[in-house]
Amino acid sequence: MTDVRVSTRDVQQFEGDALAVGVFSDGATLQGPAAALDEALAGVIADLIASGEVSGAADEVTLLHTLGKIEPTRVVVVGLGVREKFSAERVRRSASLAARTLRRAGAHHMGLALAWAASGVNLALAARAATEGALLGLYEFTRYKAPREGKPQKAIETITILGRGREPALRAAVQRGRILAESANFARDLGNEPPNTLTPTELGERARAMAAEVGLACEVYGKDWMREQGMGALLGVNQGSVEEPRFIALRYSGGAEGAPTLALVGKGITFDSGGLSLKSHEGMLDMKMDMCGGAAVIGAMRALALLKPVVNVVGLVPATENMPSGSAYRPGDILRASNGKTIEINNTDAEGRLVLADALSYAVKQGCAPIIDAATLTGAIGVALGAHRAGLFSNDEETQRAVEQAATVSGERVWAMPMDEEYDRLIRSEIADLKQSGGRLAGSISAAKVLSNFVGTTPWAHLDIAYTAMRGARDAEGEGGATGYGVRLFAELATLYASRRGE
Ligand code: BES
Ligand code: ZN
Ligand code: ZN
Repeated sequence: MTDVRVSTRDVQQFEGDALAVGVFSDGATLQGPAAALDEALAGVIADLIASGEVSGAADEVTLLHTLGKIEPTRVVVVGLGVREKFSAERVRRSASLAARTLRRAGAHHMGLALAWAASGVNLALAARAATEGALLGLYEFTRYKAPREGKPQKAIETITILGRGREPALRAAVQRGRILAESANFARDLGNEPPNTLTPTELGERARAMAAEVGLACEVYGKDWMREQGMGALLGVNQGSVEEPRFIALRYSGGAEGAPTLALVGKGITFDSGGLSLKSHEGMLDMKMDMCGGAAVIGAMRALALLKPVVNVVGLVPATENMPSGSAYRPGDILRASNGKTIEINNTDAEGRLVLADALSYAVKQGCAPIIDAATLTGAIGVALGAHRAGLFSNDEETQRAVEQAATVSGERVWAMPMDEEYDRLIRSEIADLKQSGGRLAGSISAAKVLSNFVGTTPWAHLDIAYTAMRGARDAEGEGGATGYGVRLFAELATLYASRRGE
């Protein structure tokens, strides 16, 4: 595992085998660590800028060999883009790119001196973002791949964040970034695990093992308990699968007894075939990741156990497969959720809202507030927002603002979607309390409307992460596969509530 350290020494004194520095695109003049390094390298960076080979454009990467002039043998110069637009998110991306590039070059001990001293970004926030970016960028899912014979293992063993500032503050920021990134990577492992091993039972076991390790309370319930609870929607979805369903409940009690409890709820479909309303071959390909909302909840609970904010949080994950079979639930069925409401089934591929119906009802019964859920719920959210932002739906302005604020800090972007009453008729049923799914139009909104039926008046927000939770192919930010979206946002949100309630 990669270790992250802090040093307040100058870049010229760094003793690892590789260094990363950043340059802005508007800078004819090099500043800070880049200038110091340029001097030690006899002006090679300035030369590259003068010749136009290095422009400082965002995401630009230039790898230099130092030929004995300084201790590190490699330097990577990362373009930071326009100085006025510099942000913590830019630090994350740059750190990710730098770390990935240096690993490919065979480095083991890298120093990271991005140009934060000369920027408007707060030093501690930048140190945290750099740590997050590097560790998220270096993530790989290698469990099932034999190492290539004869090839040396490429791994960054230590990252040293080089910054001029108060060392204790820097160290705390790095520690926080590390907990957040490692928790997100924990969630990514769950998302990337194939569906033949990551069954609902296995998901429960992984949650339990993690809880024991970090000191969280954990209950994993089975079918009998679900029957007692009247969870007809979750059981309905499970009906077609030979795998047992699980309801995972994690509890972090950092706040006072009796103080309000925040509920985090995540969709945990370990494989979504569509059920009898079977998906196409193409549509099924990434459906092992249909539990990424649940993974985000489990990852965030891990982060909270380690960060220890003064707040009470429960994490709930209804987990099942969605499979077709002779015992599967059918279009036309009517299911009764645990809050008593009946749902007319019209497409068995809209299973996420059903398992969430029971989990949200449970959170309400437990008296939790607010309730925030994350779910890979609809393909339609990708049509609306692409893979850049998750859809945010809420019945409460204050809760919506809190999620937006947490997302701004974590860099996981959201976009508030409308929830006008007029959309309610999309899910009106003639023969049940509501219909499972609306038509082709406003598909993500009608899905959120279904969920809203199970939270009553409790302040609630829903994140549709269908396209932000998974990355098609590797890019500047990291590998393809599960992204861990939501882990850092959830942890940030809980911290936000902790600081508010402490006032
Ligand atoms: N898990 C899918 C949504 C999804 C699609 C996630 C693509 C990630 C990528 C969900 O269960 C689903 O199938 N939703 C249907 C709803 C429809 C039947 C109302 C969809 O989006 O087509
Ligand atoms: Zn589905
Ligand atoms: Zn699904």
